[in-house]
Amino acid sequence: MHKLNTMAHTTLVVAKKAQNDEFYTQYTDIQKEVNAYLEYNPDVFRGKTVLLPCDDPEWSNFTKFFAQNFENFGLKKLISTSFAIESKKYKTDWQPTLFETENPIFDLDKSKRCGKIFVLDHDTNANGKIDIDDLQWQYLEGDGDFRSDEVKRLRDEADIIVTNPPFSLFREFLAWLMESDKCILIIGNKNCISYKEVFPLIKDNKIWVGKTPMSEDLLFDIPKSIEEEFVKNGKNGSNYKIVNGKVYGRSTSIWLTNIDHGRRHQPLQLMTMADNIKFSNHKEVKGKKYYHYENYDAIEVPFTDAIPSDYDGVMGVPITFLDKYCPEQFEIVGIGNGGELGISYGISANLSADDCKRLFKEDKGFRRGKLCYRDETGRLISCYAKILIRKKQ
Ligand SMILES: C[S@@+](CC[C@H](N)C(=O)[O-])C[C@H]1O[C@@H](n2cnc3c(N)ncnc32)[C@H](O)[C@@H]1O
Repeated sequence: MHKLNTMAHTTLVVAKKAQNDEFYTQYTDIQKEVNAYLEYNPDVFRGKTVLLPCDDPEWSNFTKFFAQNFENFGLKKLISTSFAIESKKYKTDWQPTLFETENPIFDLDKSKRCGKIFVLDHDTNANGKIDIDDLQWQYLEGDGDFRSDEVKRLRDEADIIVTNPPFSLFREFLAWLMESDKCILIIGNKNCISYKEVFPLIKDNKIWVGKTPMSEDLLFDIPKSIEEEFVKNGKNGSNYKIVNGKVYGRSTSIWLTNIDHGRRHQPLQLMTMADNIKFSNHKEVKGKKYYHYENYDAIEVPFTDAIPSDYDGVMGVPITFLDKYCPEQFEIVGIGNGGELGISYGISANLSADDCKRLFKEDKGFRRGKLCYRDETGRLISCYAKILIRKKQ
């Protein structure tokens, strides 16, 4: 019985992952995020080749957005690739679109089996402007998998790579991007911050959180069949959300990038420790003290706006600090996430195995790589994931 339950659970998890792979980004979300990079550097895309892999122009807004702004942004070339319908983990009632069938190169078998490449680089219809109507497509040899040699070659040709990749392959996708050393702008799940493949890149300022605040809910367009499944079996506000009668897929997502934006260079305005204790709006801070962790030489800071401006040591701050992180003001020194990563930054290095057992007995939430402190009553508190930071000297 237990085995059957486990199998059913695994099938559910796999199904959920396949569904989330088909979440399509809304035009306004792309526009809002990209505008932040243009505000900081109006020429950020000028003369550049932009690649949009894992896209699906018939569905996706990334191609639409960049094609419509081709001249505006001064792009040199726009390339987007889509993934073959037969290779997708989530199966939909697929029908080729008119856009496809009306093209002389249309081939039903290839449309199922092969990915497609869409290119925009000149005024094909000679109407005096380069826009979405000049987009030309053909079949790829393979299925458009980003790991294939033909898509890798496109990656190597590009200057900037932008997409919302399949959620289930996020780690692999990021590694694929990082080996190419290009400018990137991608969407990932918020939890990815504490992945061992992601956090070290954030810590070393190789990638950072985009302009859209981490607290903002990103909602995604979804195929009709997923919509129906969500409404039948899902939970409104959890994996989907209905806005003005339309069903959107919901996933706690963030933008990650290595392209500069202005918010990154605005230092936080902060009070001293004494002033925080005197005037803070947070009842957890006002009239209290900043606790020192039991298992790491740092103080606990429960809110980003309660970071004391005059503390020179290491501080544990909420993950949402990354929204406000200005690398000229602070450096990131580690993360306490209760896993291997936290341990690798020395959290609990001062504790013996017996100490850890004792602390676990006291608080079942205690883990070696997780930060913990004692409150004013002496009670052990194990913290959620925390970023460890230090003021830049
Ligand atoms: C999260 S969706 C996002 C689509 C689009 N970029 C957008 O944001 O609107 C990811 C897309 O990647 C496709 N995909 C899944 N596995 C892939 C792979 N190995 N290589 C390329 N694309 C893949 C999915 O079928 C889906 O169309």
